[in-house]
Amino acid sequence: MLRKKNKTLGEFIIENQSSFQYSSGELSKLINAIRLAAKVVNHEVNKAGLVDVLGAAGDTNIQGEDQQKLDVLANEKFIQTLKNREIVCGIASEEEDDFISINSNDEQHQNKYVVLIDPLDGSSNIDVNVSVGTIFSIYRRVTPVGTPVTLEDFLQPGNQQVAAGYVVYGTSTMLVYTTGDGVNGFTLNPAIGTFYLSHPNMQFPEKGKIYSVNEGNYVHFHRGVKDYIKYCQQEEDDRPYTSRYIGSLVSDFHRNMIKGGIYMYPKSSVTQSGKLRLLYECNPMAFIAEQANGLAIGGKSRIMDIQPTELHQRVPFFCGSRKMVEKLQEFLEKYH
Ligand code: AHG
Ligand code: MN
Ligand code: MN
Repeated sequence: MLRKKNKTLGEFIIENQSSFQYSSGELSKLINAIRLAAKVVNHEVNKAGLVDVLGAAGDTNIQGEDQQKLDVLANEKFIQTLKNREIVCGIASEEEDDFISINSNDEQHQNKYVVLIDPLDGSSNIDVNVSVGTIFSIYRRVTPVGTPVTLEDFLQPGNQQVAAGYVVYGTSTMLVYTTGDGVNGFTLNPAIGTFYLSHPNMQFPEKGKIYSVNEGNYVHFHRGVKDYIKYCQQEEDDRPYTSRYIGSLVSDFHRNMIKGGIYMYPKSSVTQSGKLRLLYECNPMAFIAEQANGLAIGGKSRIMDIQPTELHQRVPFFCGSRKMVEKLQEFLEKYH
């Protein structure tokens, strides 16, 4: 049952507009467009078993990964919605080889934001009815408004993000985002298609008891990570911790933020840079984590301070409850 006092996402956006730095209403409109796209994708994800959208699309993306039909569909829906609303000057997506410049020939075009998206995160879970998600990250362009966007507008360190968020298509659908003033979560009431503020001011517990990592890759991990995993499994103090790994970053992160935990996708002897993408996955999740009193590192240093060098760059990623990430860092530092 919805409590009467629950605000809708629409109301929340309007109320908070004036607190954004450089507020002109443009960012509010952009978040509104993302809200709409999220509802459209939610609709597609929910009926996935009924229509012909399960399975592989028969193509690979630029990173050599098989594209699922729903990957392609979610990508189209987000790009279409953002394009139609003429609310951004550029989009970069995990599923597109290159960034997309919008209305670059229109001298009147004054939009100043670029959006980076992972339209469907957790593709391997689509066909088996397990939670998937969408991740987005928003920056102010660095090149002059009214000119075509360039790669430079997208290769900004995460600490320049204006907003970031994710949608988790789970047992219920939630949109969680930050504009740099804490993290708020909104749950979709599917009957009326409205997001309600259900999780105000979300915070990682300082310490948790969950560790999330693909342990099948253990043999390939470096010493520091291996030792930390052993530490998690030791019977001492409040350990052993519980192991939970869904394989959808969004869902693993969401659970850990609520319950307390650490997520790890390390580099290994077979994947020198790990797997997760700095611009579409790590930076937005890192921004949310830090805004929720958690930490996100790429090894020794903060994820959001990495200067990106390419659009589809991968980096090792560790994030979650502050004390757990700090403990892991001690292990990593022993061997570097
Ligand atoms: P995507 O579906 O966008 O390619 O991302 C999948 C990512 C991430 O969501 C997840 O945590 C990780 O890949 C799982 O990888 P493994 O199967 O290697 O554990
Ligand atoms: Mn992903
Ligand atoms: Mn994806």
